[in-house]
Amino acid sequence: MSASKAVNFPIERTQHSRLSETDFSNLEFGTVNSDHMFVVDYKKGEWVDPKIIPFQNISVSPACSSLHYGQTVFEGMKAFRAPNGDLLVFRPEKHLERMNNSNRRLCIPEIPAEYFYDAIDALVKLDQDWIPNQEGCSLYLRPFIFANDPFIGVKPSSAYKFMIFTCPVAGYYKGTVKVIIESDFVRASPGGIGAAKTGGNYAASLLPAKLAADKGYQQILWTDSKEHKYFEESGTMNLMFVINDVLITPSLDGSILPGITRDTILTIAKDWGVKVEERRVSVEEVITAFNNGTLQDAFGTGTAATITQIAEIHHNGKDMVLPPVAGRTLSNKLNQTIVDLKNGIGEDKYNWVHRIKK
Ligand code: COI
Repeated sequence: MSASKAVNFPIERTQHSRLSETDFSNLEFGTVNSDHMFVVDYKKGEWVDPKIIPFQNISVSPACSSLHYGQTVFEGMKAFRAPNGDLLVFRPEKHLERMNNSNRRLCIPEIPAEYFYDAIDALVKLDQDWIPNQEGCSLYLRPFIFANDPFIGVKPSSAYKFMIFTCPVAGYYKGTVKVIIESDFVRASPGGIGAAKTGGNYAASLLPAKLAADKGYQQILWTDSKEHKYFEESGTMNLMFVINDVLITPSLDGSILPGITRDTILTIAKDWGVKVEERRVSVEEVITAFNNGTLQDAFGTGTAATITQIAEIHHNGKDMVLPPVAGRTLSNKLNQTIVDLKNGIGEDKYNWVHRIKK
């Protein structure tokens, strides 16, 4: 993690830890919060009153501008415990960089590095017993910022709240997913907010995802907003295919979220000598590859999901059943490599793993 000046903030410890009541053997994504959270306000151009306090509800005005106009940004990161007990966070710099890119798009002030890094270190240290030991589990960190002006005119807010809370989680999906190619609704279009990690993109996905779920599919494959001919993302994940041993993923064209897991996978795969193509990927090309037997794999990538393999792709009344997961050498190997790296196993040759100072 790059150097930043340390900030001091008070830590108020909870008197009522919920740790002993938590069933770590039955974790689901996002249902349990750990004991503490970080909060700092932005007012009149200054960051004020940073602190760590017990996880609790917050109070906002009913006129709070983000509730009406969605001027919000969030991130998702994960913390792990290494075999030697070190506390690890995966690629926090990249998450801060993306958060501040999203903030710029939403007219939100950039988060100073020192708040981001120091708050993460302090929170993970304080709630380290909330890091699950179970395989495939981790402590998910949710930094977010929202506009907090009590004003319902449409303009960039002058007040914001930046917070981080954490949750012990299992994987986002249990196993593979069946997906449907979406050709009515769109997630984002060029010039919009698709490349920013902001609530509106997720709100836009709810109805199409519900309609897909009603038909028995856990996710949708988003296509471009103009022609519905080219793939964009897979639900809340980036999307990758393996065709003829080439790893292919839609290029970042402004409407796709620049995923950190996406970047991690592309970097590792290139390093392994895998042929990687970042370009427009057409629906037709993937259907042709399926029909001629060269579509070897399709998977979604994201912090919450890591790598989630796609079992079936539905299009125009037909289900394309993809090869069995056990034989998908590249995505299985990538997944294991990334899980190991995040857990502090093996060489961190890219310097991606941040070790929290004891
Ligand atoms: C993540 O992968 O961290 C995400 O943002 C997915 C989230 C919507 C749960």
